[in-house]
Amino acid sequence: MKMETVLSGIRPTGRLHLGNYFGALRNFVRMQHEARCFFFIADYHSLTTHPDPASMHDNIRDVLAEYLAAGLDPEVATIYVQSDVPQVAELSMLLSMHAPVGELERTASFKDKIRKQPQNVNAGLLTYPVLMAADILQHRADKVPVGKDQEQHLELTRVYARRFNSFYGVEYFKEPTAYNFGTELVKVPGLDGSGKMGKSEGNGLYLSDSDADIRKKVMRAVSDSGPAEPGAPMSEPVANLFTLLRLVSAPEVVAHFTDTYNRCEIRYGDLKKQLAEDIVAVVAPIRERIEAIRADEAYLHRVTSEGAERARESSAATLADVREIMGIKRF
Ligand code: TRP
Repeated sequence: MKMETVLSGIRPTGRLHLGNYFGALRNFVRMQHEARCFFFIADYHSLTTHPDPASMHDNIRDVLAEYLAAGLDPEVATIYVQSDVPQVAELSMLLSMHAPVGELERTASFKDKIRKQPQNVNAGLLTYPVLMAADILQHRADKVPVGKDQEQHLELTRVYARRFNSFYGVEYFKEPTAYNFGTELVKVPGLDGSGKMGKSEGNGLYLSDSDADIRKKVMRAVSDSGPAEPGAPMSEPVANLFTLLRLVSAPEVVAHFTDTYNRCEIRYGDLKKQLAEDIVAVVAPIRERIEAIRADEAYLHRVTSEGAERARESSAATLADVREIMGIKRF
C-alpha cells in the first residue's frame, strides 16, 4: 500500500508549551514513521501581519530548534522553511485564477483580520487561503493536521482542488482531509485552575522555561483549600494538577498522592514540589537540546537545505504538471 502524505504548517511565532508537547507533537513524532511527512515553517504567511524584519530569522530559528529538539527527525521527515521553496508562490498565483474574490472575502479568518488590523487589510491576507492550498496541494497531501481555526482553510483547499479538476477536465488534485488525532490527543490542563494549557496568558509551562521558572510557576498553580471529606469530588484545579502528575510522574507517585488525597491528608505543597521536579526532569533535557540546536548554525543550515531540496523536488513536479494542464508551454 502506498504511504499517505501528511503535511503540517507551523507558524513561526510562539513557543511550545507542555500542552503542545504532550498533544500534537507526540503525535507528529509518531506519525513521521507512519507516513510521508512534510513539516514546514509558514514564514510567507506570517508576513501578512508585518512582523519586524529584524526578528523574522530568529523566530524561525527558535521554532525550528524547538520542533527538532522535541523529536521531529529530519532524517525521516521533510522539514523546511516555506520561503526556501518559492515554487509555492507560483502555484498559489496559478490557483488564485480560480479563487473568486467574494469567496475569499467571506472566510472567517479574513473577516477577523479586518476587525483586528483595519489599518493593514492587504491582498496577502485576502489570498492567505490560496497560499495555504498551494502548500498542501504542491505535495499532494492526503492529510493535514489542523486546529479548529484552520478547518475553513482546509475546506477551501478541497474546493480549489475540485474546481481545478473540473475546470480542466482532469483528475489531478486529490482532496486533502483533516488529520484527526482523536482520542490519542491528550488534553493538557493549564496552571490557572481551568481550561487547556496555552489558552490564557501565564497558565503555561514552556519547553524553554528554566528550572527555576518551572518551579515558581508550579508552586503558584491554583489548587483549593483541601478535600472537605473523604470521597468528596475533586475540584477542577486539583484534578488538573493530578492530570499533570499522571503525565510526568511515576505511577507510585501518582498512587501516593491519590491515596493521601482520599484520606484527606494531602498537602498540596508536597504534591506541587514533586510535580515541579518531575516536570523539570522532562523539560530540562529538551531545553538543553533546544539551546544546542539554536547555536548550531551548520546543523540548521544542513537540515533546512536538505529539507528544502526535497520539498522543491516534490513542488516542482506538481508545478510542471499544473502548468501543462493550464496550457503553459515553453518555446
Ligand atoms: N495557517 C496555518 C496556521 O495559522 C499555518 C499554515 C500555513 C498551514 N500553511 C499551511 C497549516 C498548510 C497546514 C497546512 O496555523
